[in-house]
Amino acid sequence: MTTEPPLPENYTLLDGHPSVPEYLNLRAVSGLTPKTPAQGTAAVSNSWYGCYITHTDPETQNVTAVAMGRIISDGGWYFHIADMAVLPEHQRKGLGGVVLKKLLAYIKANAPDGEPYINLLADAPGRGLYFKNGFVDAAPTSVGMVYRG
Ligand SMILES: CC(C)(COP(=O)(O)OP(=O)(O)OC[C@H]1O[C@@H](n2cnc3c(N)ncnc32)[C@H](O)[C@@H]1OP(=O)(O)O)[C@@H](O)C(=O)NCCC(=O)NCCS
Repeated sequence: MTTEPPLPENYTLLDGHPSVPEYLNLRAVSGLTPKTPAQGTAAVSNSWYGCYITHTDPETQNVTAVAMGRIISDGGWYFHIADMAVLPEHQRKGLGGVVLKKLLAYIKANAPDGEPYINLLADAPGRGLYFKNGFVDAAPTSVGMVYRG
């Protein structure tokens, strides 16, 4: 059973997804391609599972979503991890690792009997994190492809 490492002070891990504006902000500010409000609304509504981390400013008590990840899945055997994103000023504190471990633990706890197929398309900033958490290159058996037609 995977357990998540502890979070630094003032951070909270939650099940679910940030609000649509926070989701769009997390993607854009962390350097992922920006999405429209309609795309964001569908994304946060239709994922199989997601989790996110908020930061509470100790002075103002303002709460901001600063990290997230989600799983697109049939709920049977195919689990695709997407939207791994941490706001730049909160990166390299272990938040991405906490999110990824939580997603993997949720799959292990909730997938039906049988080996789950868990994949993702790894952009360069996440590769070290993914290798450390049990992912390997799919190539040469499989190569990720993107439709540009
Ligand atoms: C990829 C991403 C989600 C990782 O989030 P993160 O919170 O920085 O991840 P972590 O802090 O858990 O781990 C990142 C690195 O910091 C290191 N780290 C963890 N805690 C640390 C700490 N307290 N101090 C210093 N470094 C630390 C980890 O060992 C890891 O090193 P590695 O990349 O060499 O393996 C984040 O960089 C990001 O949002 N990038 C832009 C968007 C993106 O490319 N997303 C991936 C799409 S596939």
